[in-house]
Amino acid sequence: MELEGKEYPKLLVRPVVVITTISERGIPNAAPFSANSLVSFEPPLYGFSCSPAHDTWKNIRENGEFVVNIAGKDLGELMHVLETDYPYEDNEIEHAGLREENAKAVNPPRIKEAIAWIECKLEKYVELGDHIWITGRALAAGVKDGFWKEEGVLDVEKARPLCHIAREFFVEDMKEKKYKRA
Ligand SMILES: Cc1cc2nc3c(=O)[nH]c(=O)nc-3n(C[C@H](O)[C@H](O)[C@H](O)COP(=O)(O)O)c2cc1C
Repeated sequence: MELEGKEYPKLLVRPVVVITTISERGIPNAAPFSANSLVSFEPPLYGFSCSPAHDTWKNIRENGEFVVNIAGKDLGELMHVLETDYPYEDNEIEHAGLREENAKAVNPPRIKEAIAWIECKLEKYVELGDHIWITGRALAAGVKDGFWKEEGVLDVEKARPLCHIAREFFVEDMKEKKYKRA
């Protein structure tokens, strides 16, 4: 079946993260993002694509810090709250009934209910089409106890990471499968 080129994002199943930032006055902001990816291993760089209209971008431009909170299934029901366009400095973490906890390396808070986190400092940004590709350097990262396997990989069956397909369509159950490597 042929699709229009602009429908291509619906072909990519993308991990959902909730990015937390703070305003100049220190008020937290949280918003979901799914246009996101690993960029580099060494140095560890992470990137996501953000509309220039978003408060997330305003805050990152101001202080250059953000936390990538990796969303599990439990945050699925809260996506509609977290994606609401509340006025600037209206704290979505509180609206969603989530809990903040201090990050180790940056000032924006982590979300306690996330399955894992990456604390980032802005490295570089580039305007591309109608979005801005924001790249951050990972200063610290971690995963909730019990969601990390001995082999050094995320336990997806326990953590149940949430992925986005399009609009209100998500994927919430994954199964690990090991394939042979060359
Ligand atoms: C699952 C999901 C994924 C989203 N992914 C993106 C994204 O990758 N880039 C983007 O600019 N907005 C994305 N959005 C929309 C923003 O989260 C939404 O517009 C939000 O209100 C922006 O908040 P802010 O102004 O507080 O930064 C997504 C929304 C949802 C629910």
